[in-house]
Amino acid sequence: MPYLYFFFNKIFYMRAKLIAANWKMNGSFALIDSMQKVLSPILEKTTCEVVICPPDVLLSSMNNTVKGSRIAVGAQNVHSETSGAFTGETSAPLLQECGVQWCIVGHSERRMLFGETDEFIRSKTETLLKHGIRPILCIGETLEQRESGNHEEVVVSQLGKGLSGLAAEDQLRCVVAYEPIWAIGTGVTATSKKAQEIHAFIRTIISEKFGNEIAENTSILYGGSCNPNNAKDLFTQKDIDGGLIGGASLKADDFLSIINSF
Ligand code: 13P
Repeated sequence: MPYLYFFFNKIFYMRAKLIAANWKMNGSFALIDSMQKVLSPILEKTTCEVVICPPDVLLSSMNNTVKGSRIAVGAQNVHSETSGAFTGETSAPLLQECGVQWCIVGHSERRMLFGETDEFIRSKTETLLKHGIRPILCIGETLEQRESGNHEEVVVSQLGKGLSGLAAEDQLRCVVAYEPIWAIGTGVTATSKKAQEIHAFIRTIISEKFGNEIAENTSILYGGSCNPNNAKDLFTQKDIDGGLIGGASLKADDFLSIINSF
């Protein structure tokens, strides 16, 4: 494992290159099969970690399909409680049973369409960590916030609330995904320069909260209209450690060329 090390019997995670697919409410059993076929040969050679987050109903089947390969299973959401009367929700223990290793939290679609608050997102993060699932915490500003120059403030607030009170070793198990809302599904990507600036800023904030060593070992992904044409430019930036890919992760060939951009 390129990104694990042991110190006084504790596992520490190191900064890794990571490409995660967020299929949102798309995909199919057939897409899992074709991803496995197309990606398998390249995954033997790449140093990049690959995670696919399909809709929940596909998780168990995907786990059977990708078992033993370098594709990790991710979920798109979880409830903060571990069981109970929460119709339609999925618990962390159940995700764990489905072989889930990663879970997205705080996606802007969950914040905006489903009213999720920073506090709820924070409690999901904690539950995931307790169940051995690594959170991918999404943060990012709206177009209005960017245009009025408030994007740094928004990012500081979402990051601070999303990670508040975490022990340093738990912070190292979290990955941060910066996804400017104005770039999601719009075809408008943040320029690599703009993305690098805010990624560097995010790393500084993590350093102020948790110290430099943790900041240097935290992976920070970019998300928002990332595609085979712009991926290389984004991924060669110093503080961009990979991507959280929406639309372009639904075509195996596009997703493959994004992985190959590293
Ligand atoms: P797009 O890549 O479709 O813009 O979506 C990004 C995203 O929301 C990933 O979580």
